[in-house]
Amino acid sequence: MAETKKLFIKTYGCQMNVYDSERMSEALGASGYTETQTPDDADMILLNTCHIREKAAEKIYSELGRMKSLKTAKPDLKIGVAGCVAQAEGAEIMRRQPAVDLVVGPQSYHRLAEMEIKTRRGEKALDTDFPIEDKFEALKHRPKARRAPAAFLTVQEGCDKFCAFCVVPYTRGAETSRPVQRIVDEAKNLVERGVREITLLGQNVNAYHGTGPDGNEWGLAQLIWELDKVDGLARIRFTTSHPNDMQDDLIDAHAYCAKLMPYLHLPVQSGSDRILKRMNRSHTADSYLRLIERIRAARPDILMSGDFIVGFPEETEEDFQATLDLIKEVRYGYAYSFKYSTRPGTPAAERAQVEDAVAAERLQRLQALITQQQVEIQNSMVGRDVTILIEKQGRDPGQMVGKSEYLHAVHINDCDAIPGDLVQARITEAVRNSLAGTMI
Ligand code: 5AD
Ligand code: SF4
Repeated sequence: MAETKKLFIKTYGCQMNVYDSERMSEALGASGYTETQTPDDADMILLNTCHIREKAAEKIYSELGRMKSLKTAKPDLKIGVAGCVAQAEGAEIMRRQPAVDLVVGPQSYHRLAEMEIKTRRGEKALDTDFPIEDKFEALKHRPKARRAPAAFLTVQEGCDKFCAFCVVPYTRGAETSRPVQRIVDEAKNLVERGVREITLLGQNVNAYHGTGPDGNEWGLAQLIWELDKVDGLARIRFTTSHPNDMQDDLIDAHAYCAKLMPYLHLPVQSGSDRILKRMNRSHTADSYLRLIERIRAARPDILMSGDFIVGFPEETEEDFQATLDLIKEVRYGYAYSFKYSTRPGTPAAERAQVEDAVAAERLQRLQALITQQQVEIQNSMVGRDVTILIEKQGRDPGQMVGKSEYLHAVHINDCDAIPGDLVQARITEAVRNSLAGTMI
């Protein structure tokens, strides 16, 4: 038997990176690696990186600086960089930090095992191609180990939208969708291993257009209905969606598919039509609001979440006010907001930038509004009956924690349920960032 080596993976950024890290761990598992939770005893460290904002990318270089000292103490340690910084910067990473042995882009993970062998020979390994082969196919040999009740499953990758601020179309490449049957097989495998809830992932998940079992192109709604048939799978979610790809059959699925959870992440970025146009979003604030009206007509209790960018080039106070107005109209259950970050190579990088202090102040005002809405919606849950998917033990003895349909974290005292159980609970209290409930 091959000796076992230890692998430490640190994941940054979005949920797709979480999914990719699991795949990389499985790929290197075949080369004799088992995962460890600390970098100190690792034989290989992999940073699965995010390039979406400047801060995210800079963090990687400071982390690599720290990792370098581990390597000085243990010269056999291999250091790898995966993910979107790897894709965007390639060999530049090794130039900036010579301690790095391996750089692998998000489309090349199935070649990790070969790359690892190369590093063992003392060579550097670099692969940031967009290969024609299907990396998911090459990575499909999944172990049978038990899994947590909620899992991610990537169904679509890449983006053709080219929003003027965004690096994703460059780092993740053009949009591609996996065939329906492969996704269903992977879902069944996850369910056999204890998974009850699957979140379908894609940078533009509702643009999904994979080949169906009948040879035709299927949309996301058709895929969801196919997954609805999987016994033992209790809940389906999907993220992240683009307003322009919210087709009628997907909205209908929110009305009629009981396994599809009433939560929708639908980023709008700005509430100003002038800015939306400059962002190349090809929708208006009004078309977005009308879309949400239709979604809420289909599923009145749906919880909306969104992404916002403040301080996009040329954004005026009036534009910003339009964003606040839109937020007030939608009432978000969750929202993620960011100060615009200049990404070299994107169209917006060339434009007149908003002063940092102005953007920072707007971000504060926007986040205050969002927090207020979030708290109001959480408070409005008190007294309501929800279904919780139990995920793990809570901090107190006898306490279990899980998620409601609306993705709220709920903790339940004196709970004899185990992870994977679905329990009915009444919400009794809203505490900071979570809810408390009792079993009914
Ligand atoms: N600056 C700030 N935020 C950005 N996002 C994407 N690119 C940038 C950028 N250059 C945000 C968007 C997107 C989320 C994933 O990250 O809001 O929806
Ligand atoms: Fe980036 Fe999303 Fe726009 Fe695609 S749709 S370019 S991933 S922000």
